[in-house]
Amino acid sequence: MHAFASPTPDATPVWLVSPDNWEGVKTSIGAAATAFAERCGFKPKAGRIQLLPGEGGALAGALFGVDGESAPTRDPFAAGKLATSLPEGVYRFANPPHDADLAALGFLLALYRYNRFKSDSAPKPRLVAPDGVDKDRLERIAAAVAFGRDLVNAPANALGPHALEQEAVKLAEQFDASVSMVRGEELLGANFPLIHAVGRAAAEEPRIVDFSWGREDAPKVALIGKGVTFDTGGLDIKPASGMELMKKDMGGAATALTLARLVMQEGLDLRLRVVIPIVENAISAPAMRPGDVLISRKGLSVEVGNTDAEGRLILADALALADEEAPELMLDFATLTGAARVALGPDLPPFYTDDETLAGSIGAHAARVRDPLWRLPLWRPYEAMIEGTVGDISNSGSGGGMAGSITAALFLRRFVDKAKAWAHFDVYAWNPKPRAHGPAGGEIQAARALFELLSERYPRR
Ligand code: BES
Ligand code: ZN
Ligand code: ZN
Repeated sequence: MHAFASPTPDATPVWLVSPDNWEGVKTSIGAAATAFAERCGFKPKAGRIQLLPGEGGALAGALFGVDGESAPTRDPFAAGKLATSLPEGVYRFANPPHDADLAALGFLLALYRYNRFKSDSAPKPRLVAPDGVDKDRLERIAAAVAFGRDLVNAPANALGPHALEQEAVKLAEQFDASVSMVRGEELLGANFPLIHAVGRAAAEEPRIVDFSWGREDAPKVALIGKGVTFDTGGLDIKPASGMELMKKDMGGAATALTLARLVMQEGLDLRLRVVIPIVENAISAPAMRPGDVLISRKGLSVEVGNTDAEGRLILADALALADEEAPELMLDFATLTGAARVALGPDLPPFYTDDETLAGSIGAHAARVRDPLWRLPLWRPYEAMIEGTVGDISNSGSGGGMAGSITAALFLRRFVDKAKAWAHFDVYAWNPKPRAHGPAGGEIQAARALFELLSERYPRR
């Protein structure tokens, strides 16, 4: 499903038509096809598709409207729409796309469907990889993104803490990484009190998965991902509307695992550590209560201002663990706050770091591969908002919800001090509406951007 078709002389040509080249395309398709397209009302506008008839009922080609080079709305993934609109068959671009890599990747990403529970799946069109792209690399990226989307889309009854742990373990084993897990009551002995407190009310035990891969003396890079397989909010229960999508609250874990897979399958030269705290934020007698004070792995005491701010609690212990070996770079991913969506909407996740060079590099790579990210500040004056009344810090903040994504990031920062550089990504992990390069549902954000960054910093040897 994430693969290109092998080149064949009878692949159906698709012309990418913008106002800039329409006259030229008319000449290549000929007068009859032009007249037919115009008779059908075709215009060289972004998103328009026009099939061209051949002899004896055959399909001679297709026209696909794209934005001209100067259009501000130009979407380099636009060709993804072809994957969901063209009839079954094998196609090739008749003229080169503006950015062949992104157009081809857009097509592969658009083929994705979550069909684990669907009894039928419609046949799909296939594309011959355009000239000049690294076909295998694009296929590997599309397969990794599909893996991550599958995790996010899996309903919580199919992907609870045990199943998510198994997915992480399976991935680690595929690449001969060394894995360890701590589960249930053992979390207390191993000093993960916050992960235990958040997950102890659920039917499946809370746990942490920790795997390491790569040359031992290579630079250390740690990836941490929020693995809340379902977030009811806990005793501070969410309303039905707020709970609807909460199977995706392990989107940070899915992102970290996707990025880990990209790194391992590419064989980048780094020492990778992946730490995934996994819980279900459920409600039962042992549930943590508002007002409880917990002593974290790092020793800071944390007051539970709100049981629904569970993500930062489990991340606190996971970040503290990863920080202990002073990695060169530490990246965490989490569907952490509703406030991030209020600020930037579903498609533009905010990130936080104090490292100016890293921030610039993240922004540049994100823009280059069209995996958009936007920096927000670790605004120190708001530290006052996360001060605890009886504990050192509170997990909910006193700003009445103001600057909620920033105060969550400031909370996490308290658990990082040895890492040379750290960045936090408050991802949404979801497409509310279908996009050219993917259907509505689970989405992996930030992983492609960071894969580019890591590929540049730690190329394979
Ligand atoms: N998982 C949610 C955040 C979330 C909600 C992400 C909706 C994406 C979409 C998180 O655990 C949460 O509930 N956060 C609270 C924090 C608050 C209680 C301080 C929030 O954002 O409202
Ligand atoms: Zn929550
Ligand atoms: Zn949550």
